[in-house]
Amino acid sequence: MGHSRDQEGGLTILTRLAMPLLRLLPAETAHGVTLSLLKAGLVPGQSAVRDPVLASRHWDLDFPNPLGLAAGFDKNGEVPDAMLELGFGFTEIGSVTPRPQPGNPKPRLFRLSADRAVINRMGFNNHGLDAAAARLAARERRGIVGANLGKNKDTEDAASDYVKGVEKLGPLADYLVINVSSPNTPGLRALQGRAPLEALVGRTKAAVARLPAAKPLLLKIAPDLTPEDRADIAEVALTSGLDGLIVSNTTIERPASLTSAAAKETGGLSGAPLFEPSTRLLGEMYRLTGGKIVLIGVGGIASGEQAYAKIRAGASLLQLYSGLVYGGPALIAAINRDLAARLKRDGFSRVADAVGANHR
Ligand SMILES: Cc1cc2nc3c(=O)[nH]c(=O)nc-3n(C[C@H](O)[C@H](O)[C@H](O)COP(=O)(O)O)c2cc1C
Repeated sequence: MGHSRDQEGGLTILTRLAMPLLRLLPAETAHGVTLSLLKAGLVPGQSAVRDPVLASRHWDLDFPNPLGLAAGFDKNGEVPDAMLELGFGFTEIGSVTPRPQPGNPKPRLFRLSADRAVINRMGFNNHGLDAAAARLAARERRGIVGANLGKNKDTEDAASDYVKGVEKLGPLADYLVINVSSPNTPGLRALQGRAPLEALVGRTKAAVARLPAAKPLLLKIAPDLTPEDRADIAEVALTSGLDGLIVSNTTIERPASLTSAAAKETGGLSGAPLFEPSTRLLGEMYRLTGGKIVLIGVGGIASGEQAYAKIRAGASLLQLYSGLVYGGPALIAAINRDLAARLKRDGFSRVADAVGANHR
């Protein structure tokens, strides 16, 4: 859109041709093709936006920019380096469950194009911890890669699965995420209640403490929480020593504004309609945790303006997934460039200074 080929670092030709073609394919097929192109090195890296205003340091990790890839795109850790090369400041693999599992029957991924949204009921399809660990072990460690942990559908002692995840991927990842917020694994979201959450975080944290080197442990939460849930999670986060919250996963709500036929599909809704509710929850979690822990803002980001809004609401870091489906990889640099301009316009010399600005 008005950018010369130079400005987009050579990305343009291939992706401009590929994006409309990919959109003609069923959503999950398009995702598979995209992963294959990335694995084959056929999506050229963009010159990442390198602006000191975007850089920040959390948990002893240096983030070149605050925009990361959300979990679910690279479930098996097949393309972390390709995603970093596209200009993301960090990437998150998973969700990975201890044993491989096929997930739900297809179709299970739907585009709601008119709504700039996606519905998925993948159900944690993934290759399991051993495969993910082998891939992470084989790569050269550069750039920040987190591991998002899930539980197998048929595991009764949920905490034991997260402990296995910590043990296998903890030594290989830069941070770890307890995901208890996907709507497509029966019973999973009930783990967000106070008592089960305390027990789960306690056992997982103990497993992290046994690692050769401690890693930050984050919790990813759903947007569909009662006020009591929200207060409980904030308190557990502060008292149990969680290092951060990821706000939020997909929603099971269906806003009345949706116009796409696929809106009736079962699953989690992401993309544009999730922006407002996930940003509201982000602001509330910032207030409830007093800005004391790192929040990663995710849900519906597709512009620099929205990225900036999440930061002002309380996010230190950001993630996106659905935006890529509609905006393609050029979106990453576009968001970072626009975010840097907005920070400077408002007199911030570092992104960290703008975090939670709306609350002051
Ligand atoms: C197809 C798909 C699969 C996803 N899989 C996972 C997953 O395995 N684990 C997880 O924590 N979140 C998963 N998510 C949720 C995203 O990480 C993110 O929280 C959500 O999509 C909101 O961000 P977005 O609006 O930018 O997409 C998935 C999302 C999509 C669209």
